[in-house]
Amino acid sequence: MCGVVGYTGKNQAVKYLLDGLSTLEYRGYDSAGVEVLSPSGNLHGVKCVGRVATLVERCKTANLVGTAGIGHTRWATHGAPTDRNAHPHTDCSGRIAIVHNGIIENFQELRRDLAAAGHELRSDTDSEVIAHLVEDAWNGPAKGDLAAAVRNACDRLEGSWAIAAICADAPGQIVCTRKGSPLVVASTPDGAYAASDVMPLAKVTSHVIQLDDGDIATLRQDGSVAITDRDGIAVEHPSTMDIDWDASAATLGGYSDFMAKEISEQPAAIERLLQGRLGKHGVELDELSMSDEELAAIDRVYVIACGTSYHVGLITKAIIQKWAKIPVFCEYASEFNYSDVLVTEHTLCVIITQSGETADTLTAARRMKGMGCRVFAITNVLGSSAARESDGTMYIQAGPEVCVCSTKAYTAQMVAAVLLALRLALVNGQMDQAEVERHFHDLEQLPGLISEVLKRRWQDKQAARLFRNAHSSLFLGRGVNSTTAYEGALKLKEVSYLHAEAYPAGEMKHGPIALLEPGFPVVAVVPADHVHDKTVSNIQECIARGAVVVAVATDGDEAVAKLCQDVLWVPPVPDEDLFPIVGVVHLQLLARYVARARGCDVDKPRNLAKSVTVE
Ligand code: G6P
Repeated sequence: MCGVVGYTGKNQAVKYLLDGLSTLEYRGYDSAGVEVLSPSGNLHGVKCVGRVATLVERCKTANLVGTAGIGHTRWATHGAPTDRNAHPHTDCSGRIAIVHNGIIENFQELRRDLAAAGHELRSDTDSEVIAHLVEDAWNGPAKGDLAAAVRNACDRLEGSWAIAAICADAPGQIVCTRKGSPLVVASTPDGAYAASDVMPLAKVTSHVIQLDDGDIATLRQDGSVAITDRDGIAVEHPSTMDIDWDASAATLGGYSDFMAKEISEQPAAIERLLQGRLGKHGVELDELSMSDEELAAIDRVYVIACGTSYHVGLITKAIIQKWAKIPVFCEYASEFNYSDVLVTEHTLCVIITQSGETADTLTAARRMKGMGCRVFAITNVLGSSAARESDGTMYIQAGPEVCVCSTKAYTAQMVAAVLLALRLALVNGQMDQAEVERHFHDLEQLPGLISEVLKRRWQDKQAARLFRNAHSSLFLGRGVNSTTAYEGALKLKEVSYLHAEAYPAGEMKHGPIALLEPGFPVVAVVPADHVHDKTVSNIQECIARGAVVVAVATDGDEAVAKLCQDVLWVPPVPDEDLFPIVGVVHLQLLARYVARARGCDVDKPRNLAKSVTVE
């Protein structure tokens, strides 16, 4: 949530700041702003409610000249999205400005103290206190040293933050720091850069520095970056990371929106993930960093995640239990963090997080580590906090996912989870090498099957008409496909703002059936599996009440075709447990078509952010 950028160097700052904010806009997009230090030695800024595109327009006439500046795109937590609450925030003198991502938990107390000391607070945000605390320190103990002033201010903060600060009286400097919220910096011959994640930096360098919690980085106009730790001691060898993907991976590349692009990238993402995974000893999963003896001893697994990744968790639970015969608990991170945990000496914790930065998931992982559990992360983002803090990390290698609603990460994460289940089943003796190989070959068919579904997108476009003017909808499925139903409903809600309820099909009669009336749209996931006939009975119950049913079914299912208004056909999937990875693609496409028919921005749905870095 919220994107932070900073630049100081040879070039005009505003260009990088605006480009960087556009790239980071998936982190929040209710308001945005920049502040640049002009050659006359004063700070000049523009900030406004709305998208970064609005800020770009405003900047065209504002003539922001200067080679050092900071910028921000906001997802409001404290204070409504207004011009006044948009970042950057300045101190009383207007000579210090800051941008912040995170939450200052003790802001009320700090506001009270600052106001009592004569500071004039002009916004409703928690973040503004930082500018005034830096001001106090600059004029006091830090004696005109910006890095010291920022460190001093942070000593008074509670909560989480990634901060970039600029001061008109420290020309050419940007000072950055973080605690709990991500921030990376880069040193280049053209200048020094800061950003919430590597994506804006990928356009200017292939080498970035990852700040650790408490680090203070001073970026200078000559492109140098000096880092000290929370005690002010120089960090000689900060952790660095090479960006190995092309910056163009995060551009539209001819597609009308990122959701369309990312849906179509799924076959390639899965193919990449499977490459080189099958070895002489079953599935190669060295990233687990555990010996076979340790893996074989695992007697309990906690899978913890949020949002779409939580749905991957439900599939992970089903498949590990079925194949490796290990009991699995799957928890929403936000719930897990405040509930009792039943760990054993041999409990494995698996966190699933596309961004690797979701605050609740990270808190859960730290809690599990604190209890002595091994934490294994499945994530997409190289060098993310989840990857850095876990004992082992499997990267799904899906490439940057820009659309706020997750599609290619969902299917790739499911494949990663299946690989984990195969590894566990082999080492604990529940499967032999031949069985593992058979399952692996089934996985290898997924890219082709998904490609086939993508060719049938006209079916989703056609079915979208049934939802266009609806007020609500119901998604049903059984077994692993109750999760496909949950995910389909989540996609539809996220991008089209149409209410969608998802239920295990057999539970429908215990409540949701009351929603049904003539014309009510129901999506039933009903592949040719061991519960097919039971789900068909549930479809009949819906039709008897006048509902129009769109089925996701296996090619050739005449019984379903006769009953349902529309069918989204899926080619036969070799293993019914893998159907969710193929069938869901229709529901992603359906959600997108419904959203477009209802005039919604599919890439940036209202109120959402891709990376939720607050609890
Ligand atoms: C946000 C996004 C969702 C995502 C969830 C978890 O709410 O809008 O699309 O599923 O965070 O994100 P993660 O990065 O942890 O998978």
